[in-house]
Amino acid sequence: MEEISIIAACAKNRAIGENGKIPWKIPEETAHFKHTTMGGAVIFGRKTFEGIGKPLPGRFNVVISSTRNFDSLNKEQKGVNAGKIKTADSLENAVALCRNAGCSRIFICGGAQVYREALEKKLCGRLIISEINENFSGDIKKADAFFPEIKKSEWRCEKKEIHEKFTVFSFAHIETIH
Ligand SMILES: NC(=O)c1ccc[n+]([C@@H]2O[C@H](COP(=O)([O-])OP(=O)(O)OC[C@H]3O[C@@H](n4cnc5c(N)ncnc54)[C@H](OP(=O)(O)O)[C@@H]3O)[C@@H](O)[C@H]2O)c1
Repeated sequence: MEEISIIAACAKNRAIGENGKIPWKIPEETAHFKHTTMGGAVIFGRKTFEGIGKPLPGRFNVVISSTRNFDSLNKEQKGVNAGKIKTADSLENAVALCRNAGCSRIFICGGAQVYREALEKKLCGRLIISEINENFSGDIKKADAFFPEIKKSEWRCEKKEIHEKFTVFSFAHIETIH
């Protein structure tokens, strides 16, 4: 059975984005995201994917959209990434594409709309949250995308990794461990 995780980086007030972008630049946090997701499947909402602008190498990329199809980007991909970008018209179909491709680690990578739906539908068994230290979270006054509030009673913190600019919390869902 595959493991489905949400992975996100949040300010202390749960801000995750402003005007289509992440409000901070922290290379160590980007490295943590890359290291954690490498070799797995990454699922993005259309707006987040357009903000990144290209598929992430070494991972099976799925974009959720009801208005656009990103499969044509496959022509630009070479080597191990060829044919690895898919579009799904729902979150469930995105997960099914990953499952059918044999991915054992599936990461739901945002943005806010996709996180909300995944949590509401209890689709994931793990949350990997980087909480950005206040001094490094940039100007978040105009943040317009937020991570949903989680029900603390449903999640158990299993790991805490302290870095200089952020802390990574790994939570397991108490009932729906995948
Ligand atoms: N800090 C972090 O870790 C992090 C991570 C990811 C993103 N972000 C930030 O989050 C912000 C974007 O979040 P957002 O909520 O505005 O957008 P989003 O979740 O990235 O994308 C929303 C779009 O995804 C598609 N979509 C989502 N759920 C769908 C469903 N069930 N069925 C069909 N299509 C679906 C729709 O595309 P169509 O309109 O084409 O149908 C929808 O408009 C950005 O600022 C980004 O930088 C932050």
